[in-house]
Amino acid sequence: MYLLFSPFLFLPSSLFLKLNLKSLWIAQKLNWFLQVVGRSWRKPIRNSKRLRNRFEYQTINCTAFNIGRKCPITNSTTFMDDSDTDSQPPPTCPEYFRWIHEDLRPWSNTGITREMLERANRTAHFRLVILNGRVYMEKFHRAFQSRDVFSRWGILQLMRRYPGKLPDLELMFDCEDRPFIKTSEFSGPDAPSPPPLFKYCRDSDTLDIVFPDWSFWGWPEVNLPPWEPLLKSFKEANKWIKWSKREPYAYWKGNPYVSGMRMELLTCNVSKDQDWNARIYAQNWDREAAQKFKDSNLTKQCTHRYKIYIEGIGWSVSQKYILACDSPTLLVKPQFYDFFSRSLIPMEHYWPINQNDKCRSIKFAVDWGNSHEQKAQAIGKAGSRFIQHDLNMDYVYDYMFHLLSEYSKLLTFKPTLPPNARELCPEKIFCKVEGVAKSFITESMVKSPAERRPCTLLPPYDPPSILKSAKRKESTISKVETLERQYWYNNNKSKNSKD
Ligand SMILES: *[C@@H]1O[C@H](CO)[C@@H](O)[C@H](O)[C@H]1NC(C)=O
Ligand SMILES: *[C@@H]1O[C@H](CO)[C@@H](O)[C@H](O)[C@H]1NC(C)=O
Ligand SMILES: *[C@@H]1O[C@H](CO)[C@@H](O)[C@H](O)[C@H]1NC(C)=O
Ligand SMILES: *[C@@H]1O[C@H](CO)[C@@H](O)[C@H](O)[C@H]1NC(C)=O
Ligand SMILES: *[C@@H]1O[C@H](CO)[C@@H](O)[C@H](O)[C@H]1NC(C)=O
Ligand SMILES: *[C@@H]1O[C@H](CO)[C@@H](O)[C@H](O)[C@H]1NC(C)=O
Repeated sequence: MYLLFSPFLFLPSSLFLKLNLKSLWIAQKLNWFLQVVGRSWRKPIRNSKRLRNRFEYQTINCTAFNIGRKCPITNSTTFMDDSDTDSQPPPTCPEYFRWIHEDLRPWSNTGITREMLERANRTAHFRLVILNGRVYMEKFHRAFQSRDVFSRWGILQLMRRYPGKLPDLELMFDCEDRPFIKTSEFSGPDAPSPPPLFKYCRDSDTLDIVFPDWSFWGWPEVNLPPWEPLLKSFKEANKWIKWSKREPYAYWKGNPYVSGMRMELLTCNVSKDQDWNARIYAQNWDREAAQKFKDSNLTKQCTHRYKIYIEGIGWSVSQKYILACDSPTLLVKPQFYDFFSRSLIPMEHYWPINQNDKCRSIKFAVDWGNSHEQKAQAIGKAGSRFIQHDLNMDYVYDYMFHLLSEYSKLLTFKPTLPPNARELCPEKIFCKVEGVAKSFITESMVKSPAERRPCTLLPPYDPPSILKSAKRKESTISKVETLERQYWYNNNKSKNSKD
């Protein structure tokens, strides 16, 4: 009888498959009937199930915390019962998780010794220690704005999502924009092993281990909300203006003064003499802050048919917001990659832009898209789908979980508490921050443990298949470049014949 109350919520999937359609139909009708007439019977049953299944964290009481400022002791036995989370089979992790194995490959034969770890302290902002499910930090120095605080907040939320499931470890975390561990310094027969350093991005000449950046939990200095609610708003925002009704140009807005590449992009803006099909706007953060960010709402920037992505000092957190608009991303060939961007495929998820000939490349991409509307929209949709599905917050946490788990397997020493470490807990951050940061911290707080186990990690790529997909990517990009050359050749010819 119990099954009939809510067939879709609690039915084990194997049983679900065995039910034939007719009984399913009856169950559905009955469920509907009970919902309408039998609210009073249904509720208590559902609640008692919920109580047993879902543990909800207590809201943080800062008055109580501020008395002793000590992290509360949580009773970890509460979480040891795995039977509930096991009832939902986990999905397979998205493809980009396989790069975890590649990022850790430099240590796959040697393991990570304490000596290697300590050498990563040169630029690290803090050392993170996990021992028996509790988190500690040894702080070396302050990071820019609040990125270190939000990164640590993210790790604390991971602990709440998967309580009792993270292994003991020690790691070094650096919050700067650019990767630091140069491959060339650690190759050759007598070279030392590279130090393992966690970072937000890397490139093909470096060995930093990439980790999701702080913006997934919010970036208060630029009023950028946490990823989970923002992702939902993008879904809504994309319905506001249909693609065909959007401005038929390529849009970019950002701070151009952080890199030469971005300064060059300014020259592609529309002017009296030229129209490269680009609409470029410089973001002035001081002015935006003064007017309470009323012109920098990202969900209101899905107004053009094409969106340009271009790197900043390193990778740029803007990539996920740009891809989320349902408009094809014109991606200026990047140098750096974060944890997910290595799995983006040209002409499937984005349109590649030649970094040495940006304006003409953009002009061609927009003209092509406006004369191949279906294909252009498909690229826009595929990019958004990747972001909405493969990069939702559940997977971001799963990525962190698997990366930390695989990393900890490589440690050849037993993690210990350094003398200068202090314990971290959500209270220590939550009770200290104020203003916008407080609201982002509140919004991004994990309220209860995950209802499923982490997704299933796929095995490493074999080296030939990495090579093959890199070749495929290059060949797609060079095909686009050929089309582009033809376009400009014809364009020149017709211009010359007119003269
Ligand atoms: C928070 O803690 C204080 C001090 O222990 C207590 O007086 C207060 O009732 C608590 N507030 C809530 C909402 O539990
Ligand atoms: C933790 O919870 C378990 C089960 O609820 C209980 O038996 C145990 O006494 C608790 N331990 C502490 C230290 O509170
Ligand atoms: C890094 O670690 C080494 C060896 O433990 C130590 O001598 C050095 O002072 C540390 N450097 C920094 C910047 O903490
Ligand atoms: C680009 O051109 C538009 C339209 O003329 C203008 O509003 C905008 O400020 C220009 N952008 C920059 C960065 O100068
Ligand atoms: C952006 O605009 C949407 C829609 O008007 C609104 O729901 C959201 O709160 C705004 N976000 C910010 C950060 O102001
Ligand atoms: C087209 O003309 C421009 C100068 O007007 C030149 O720079 C460019 O190389 C020409 N492109 C082709 C494909 O002929």
